[in-house]
Amino acid sequence: MATRVLLIGKDGRTDCLAEALAASGAELHTVCDLANHPGLAAKSKTVRWGRTDDVPMVVEFAREVRPDLVVVGPEDPLAAGVVDAIQSALGTPCFGPTRALAQLEASKAFTRDLLARHRIPGSLRYRAFTSIDGVEGYMRELGQFVVKADGLMGGKGVKVFGEHLHTIDESVAYTASLLPRGQVVVEEKVEGEEFSLMSLCDGGHTVATIPVQDHKRAFEDDRGPNTGGMGSYSGADHRLPFLSAEDLAEAAHINALVGEALREQLGAPYRGVLYGGFMATRDGLRVLEYNARFGDPETMNVVPLIEGDFLAICMAVATGTLARTPMTFRKRATVCKYVVPEGYPDDPVKNELLDLSAMPKTGDDLRVYAAALRTDDDGHIVMTGSRALAVVGIADSIPAAADIAEEAIGSVRGRVMHRRDIGSPALLQRRIDHLAALRRTS
Ligand code: GLY
Repeated sequence: MATRVLLIGKDGRTDCLAEALAASGAELHTVCDLANHPGLAAKSKTVRWGRTDDVPMVVEFAREVRPDLVVVGPEDPLAAGVVDAIQSALGTPCFGPTRALAQLEASKAFTRDLLARHRIPGSLRYRAFTSIDGVEGYMRELGQFVVKADGLMGGKGVKVFGEHLHTIDESVAYTASLLPRGQVVVEEKVEGEEFSLMSLCDGGHTVATIPVQDHKRAFEDDRGPNTGGMGSYSGADHRLPFLSAEDLAEAAHINALVGEALREQLGAPYRGVLYGGFMATRDGLRVLEYNARFGDPETMNVVPLIEGDFLAICMAVATGTLARTPMTFRKRATVCKYVVPEGYPDDPVKNELLDLSAMPKTGDDLRVYAAALRTDDDGHIVMTGSRALAVVGIADSIPAAADIAEEAIGSVRGRVMHRRDIGSPALLQRRIDHLAALRRTS
């Protein structure tokens, strides 16, 4: 009998997880926020359309489905305590941390305190504020700083001095505007190249996947407003062109230390993804943030390369048996590009059709995942206003993978845009030169 998996999510990342779980024989029963999501509807045996952070509804669906495993895609259901509720109602193994452990993402102050208390390398100078007292003085002391709202803000709660905030007065006013919602972290700003490393953790054992670089800005040449991520790449050698072997080993080590620190501090095993957001700087790595789930779009660079049984890997994470479960990756480069509605992220067109009828056939070299899409009553695919379609090229080099993604995106018809420069030789060289120049002057 097929393993029954309750999958919780709504986005391109969850569609990618669904593909990999189904390919390893899982029978999927899915809770999805977006009614008639074309990717998840096609891959699931049953779907409950409703809010993924509606804990009683998700538990009720779990009682009906009686899954063997629960896999959670995005952060909101984790922060709402969906794992705690399912485990207490049914005892089902869950891929994804409990609410207390998911503070790693849901509270910036929790994570900074965890890193500091456990003397984990890569920590930054920071202070968490619950009132405006002392904020201006601390900003002046740091000189260059970042202001972060404490809770889940969908990537929109972070403002950087010199980029989004131009004066101390503006920075203090921004901090004051966040305080009614909870504490605010002000931390040191560091310069370098950002990358993500996602490690899987079963509570006792942590295994690193492949490093990925995401592109947050909406427009080419890293201009425009911040987004959820416009696209990402990974190298065929499982490295990034600007990153040294030491950087990568350090990131994997930091992720493992965070898994141990969580267990020690909260007395419970962390089971899921430890997604470290790092900055490679002139003198080593700094931790920018942690997320408690797979990255979006980083999942699309990593999961399609996993050789073997993804379902067995997820089950091993959820049951504490990862040490006995092999995880290897194809030696291929990947480039994921998001097709987004015109006007994204500030004023996106909504309810516009997306015509994918000329899309080349997907396979080993090309993957396509549905994100903020729904199927309407006439069977047309409609964009709901956020990132719409993730297109992934897979090849022997990053530029070749980018070309595959570009060609496929060229077949898409609709009021859309994307970033042509992601994975291009010119952009890669800029990243390499940037970090090399910083490190030459250290
Ligand atoms: N790539 C950004 C995120 O997953 O939060």
